[in-house]
Amino acid sequence: MIERKNIDNENEMLALGQNLAAHWHAPLMVYLLGDLGAGKTTLVRGWLRGLGYQGIVKSPTYTLVESYHFAGQSIHHFDLYRLTDPEELYYIGLEEYLQPQSICLVEWPQQGKGVLPAADIIIEIAIKGSAREVMISQPSVR
Ligand SMILES: Nc1ncnc2c1ncn2[C@@H]1O[C@H](COP(=O)(O)OP(=O)(O)OP(=O)(O)O)[C@@H](O)[C@H]1O
Ligand SMILES: [Mg+2]
Repeated sequence: MIERKNIDNENEMLALGQNLAAHWHAPLMVYLLGDLGAGKTTLVRGWLRGLGYQGIVKSPTYTLVESYHFAGQSIHHFDLYRLTDPEELYYIGLEEYLQPQSICLVEWPQQGKGVLPAADIIIEIAIKGSAREVMISQPSVR
């Protein structure tokens, strides 16, 4: 399954995240691909809003992961940009994040290659000026 969408502004990216939150449920591993400033964290913010979270979404660039708990599911937002070795994922207790009720939304998953489990969904964001082209694919259904 491949879906392609044009996202004209930040609000549309938030809305896309909200839609995804309504359609996908745990357990789920989501890879978020795209350059710096593409809108990966913005999409995560929309996903969290879709589940009712209205607070601040900090980029977990230094902490690597930030978790949000809801009734029946948890969102674990990873940003692996600063990971120097995929094995570091073992030190932060990766297994604890891979539970039946977990949705992992992972920015810079390339940095965890070999350790991070395969993606159920890949969301790729390309910058087109102030707009974005978003491609959503399900590798196992290709
Ligand atoms: N069409 C758009 N969709 C999403 N964000 C947009 C769009 N146009 C402009 N922006 C802006 O681009 C920025 C995206 O930042 P964001 O932190 O979401 O990127 P990121 O992909 O997580 O980057 P990083 O890899 O540095 O974590 C925000 O400042 C947002 O306002
Ligand atoms: Mg980010």
